[in-house]
Amino acid sequence: MTTNRRWILRAPIDGARLPTAADFELQTCPAETPGEGEVLARAIYLSMDPYMRGRISPARNYSAGVAAGQLMTGRAVAEVLESRLAGYAPGDIVTGELGWQAVGLMRAPTLRKVDRRLAPISSFLGLLGLPGLTAYFALLDLGLPRPGDTVLVTAASGAVGSAVGQIARLAGCRTIALAGSAAKIAYCLDELRYDAALDYRSASDLTSAIGRLAPLGVNVFFDSAGGSVHQAVLPHLAVHARVVICGVMSQYNPIAQSQPSVYNLRHLLVSRAEVKGFLAHDFEHRFDEGRARLAQWIREGSLRCRETVAEGIEAAPAALHALLAGDNVGKQLVKVSQEPR
Ligand SMILES: NC(=O)c1ccc[n+]([C@@H]2O[C@H](COP(=O)([O-])OP(=O)(O)OC[C@H]3O[C@@H](n4cnc5c(N)ncnc54)[C@H](OP(=O)(O)O)[C@@H]3O)[C@@H](O)[C@H]2O)c1
Repeated sequence: MTTNRRWILRAPIDGARLPTAADFELQTCPAETPGEGEVLARAIYLSMDPYMRGRISPARNYSAGVAAGQLMTGRAVAEVLESRLAGYAPGDIVTGELGWQAVGLMRAPTLRKVDRRLAPISSFLGLLGLPGLTAYFALLDLGLPRPGDTVLVTAASGAVGSAVGQIARLAGCRTIALAGSAAKIAYCLDELRYDAALDYRSASDLTSAIGRLAPLGVNVFFDSAGGSVHQAVLPHLAVHARVVICGVMSQYNPIAQSQPSVYNLRHLLVSRAEVKGFLAHDFEHRFDEGRARLAQWIREGSLRCRETVAEGIEAAPAALHALLAGDNVGKQLVKVSQEPR
């Protein structure tokens, strides 16, 4: 019998604090047996994502949360050990919902095979996973970048942001990164090839600094931060700018239902900007199209993303904490077991 190790949420976290290991319990138990339509798989990489903060909060959300005593939710890249699902066999590498566990059941609709010829398997949680697909559809379908546009990206060195900057560059745009440390700025300029980058955490007058980087205004504002950083960009919107609301990192701890989101609507009026909220799941029917295009850019060497990898299933809560605190560069993963050869 295979033994499993899994993280259980002790209780949803209400209040303005980051989750820690004390919010979860690491259990050792026998692995489950797959039923009809399921596979049993061993986790290789777990994906750490900002949406997880919403799932462990009691606040209203677009998806159901994790209840007290339940397995922590999350996607993984895994190897099939046993299959009772047609088309899947032991040894297949797959991705989908597995939760924070070493060995567990996976099923439709999230389960899909990983094509190892396209890219390293961890990419299926990054550039070829939800972050890459988010960048692709949110930028191209909502941001509508045109050659010569200035595109400003917050959380620019993260999993989504790093792809946004590079795709905007491929679209012929001038790209500006806002990121939270000197090391992240160097990464944005040297590896992601943003045209300009600014450490917003150390800028004394952020609004003026953004104005100097975007003297002709920002045509596409791709925002994952919200809050005061969002406010600092609004005075610099170009006429008919597109503002893509991809995430609100500054408001996930706690999920602030009642915070005013935009203080000065005059900036939107004067620029006649469009503000659009994005949810990746609305584009699920086009994920294959997005993945094919992203894979082509990876093959051509024009799309890359660093990974920050924590080791071992024990590290999952700390890795989520680090992501939510902004410690990661690129895609935050947890490596649970070795990749097969
Ligand atoms: N709408 C959708 O369908 C969808 C899908 C996927 C992801 N998203 C959103 O996209 C954004 C990026 O996700 P990701 O997976 O690529 O994560 P990520 O960017 O790799 O990591 C999160 C980053 O957010 C930044 N950040 C900004 N303000 C922060 C604050 N107040 N506190 C802590 N960190 C802050 C940090 O970078 P800096 O230090 O550089 O600021 C941190 O590294 C998130 O807002 C996420 O919710 C949305």
